[in-house]
Amino acid sequence: MKKLNGNLLIKNIGVLATPVGNSAKGGSEQGDIRIINSAEVLSKNGRIEAIRGDGVSHNIEAFNTLEEDIRVIDAKNALVTPGLIDAHTHLVFGGWRQNELALKLKGVAYLDILAKGGGILSSVSSTRNSSYDELKGKTLSVLDEMLSFGVTTCEAKSGYGLNHDTEIKQLSVIKDLNDIHYIDIVPTYMGAHAVPPEYKENRNEYIDFICQKMIPEIAANGLAEFCDVFCEKGVFTAEESFKILSSAKDIGLIPKIHSDEIESIGGTAVARDLKAISAEHLIVCDEEGISNLKSGSTIACLLPLTSLYLGASFAPAKKMLEKGVPIAIATDFNPGSCPNNNIQLAINLGALRYKLTPEQILTSVTLNAAAAINRSEDVGTIEIGKRADFVIWDSPDLNYICYRMGSNLVKSVIKNGVEVKSV
Ligand code: NIG
Ligand code: FE
Repeated sequence: MKKLNGNLLIKNIGVLATPVGNSAKGGSEQGDIRIINSAEVLSKNGRIEAIRGDGVSHNIEAFNTLEEDIRVIDAKNALVTPGLIDAHTHLVFGGWRQNELALKLKGVAYLDILAKGGGILSSVSSTRNSSYDELKGKTLSVLDEMLSFGVTTCEAKSGYGLNHDTEIKQLSVIKDLNDIHYIDIVPTYMGAHAVPPEYKENRNEYIDFICQKMIPEIAANGLAEFCDVFCEKGVFTAEESFKILSSAKDIGLIPKIHSDEIESIGGTAVARDLKAISAEHLIVCDEEGISNLKSGSTIACLLPLTSLYLGASFAPAKKMLEKGVPIAIATDFNPGSCPNNNIQLAINLGALRYKLTPEQILTSVTLNAAAAINRSEDVGTIEIGKRADFVIWDSPDLNYICYRMGSNLVKSVIKNGVEVKSV
């Protein structure tokens, strides 16, 4: 498997649905998407070259001179959208944690499991004990599955190593899989996912190690583009999060923050002060938190599958929309709070629990997700010059994909103008 750039004509598209533009959309703009009926899209060398359909003609002369090696796909009147973007995953880890489900069913809280050395720390020991090859093989199968669900770009965080070698091992797996897998993978360093056991008694030393050793080395070697912190009661305080993320920002890593997942301890103010590109979870985010996001131009990256697994409430998506904060929706795939990589289920919950419209949801898993990982000039919409990443759905329209749940509704996935998955 390797990255290819294709020449492709998709004909007989019943409904082409796409957001438009190169930046995140908030407020009323989030649902303001372009729908083109009876459409055709032409791609050349992996990029979109021409689009035509009812009332739309973009660069249509190109349809008259097709490349000899062009591949033609008949979409048979189905829905076509941009390839989906999963903007928040903890993709690389050793082991699983199904034993914690039984504990949770008995009423033990997620943060109590972590405080007793389980939770994230249990995945840290499994990841430290896994070889590079084991992690690579396991992550490859997860990516194959994500591709089958329609994902063409994703973000991936480290954070199950917490020591030098294992964090680098995770980031190297991400880098190497990005080179060979169809899905483009955007890396995030998340050494501040928990305080590792060896620093339990002197957490400040761990924070210094992150700021002085890990961040400079990772940035210098191009192993991550973003830095993320778990700002949560009993994990990292707002002050500590600010310190870590400002060191990262100073050296060129873009800040992201896990904030207001279980308790609100000031993470959105950190996002505002550092102009974080995105804040994640935001389950218990209040009015003030929403204003902080708005003032920092921070995208709210919401993770509904995690709310489901934690038995928590759901982030106040509609209030965020009303205040003009752009919303992205992602899976949060990880071995603890969300052992699920199916972005189509996140789409369903976007409708059923966040009560967003199908149009707003499409933007949340395409353009706004792209913006949350600094890729919105390249992917996330079907427009001339963007990457030819598409999903052809086993569906006539957007309503249907929000309404059906539990079936994989993807018929075909196209990455860089090449059909990489067809059902
Ligand atoms: O986003 N909250 C912190 N990190 C992950 C969970 C990690 C885990 O439970 O292993 C999350 O939910
Ligand atoms: Fe997460």
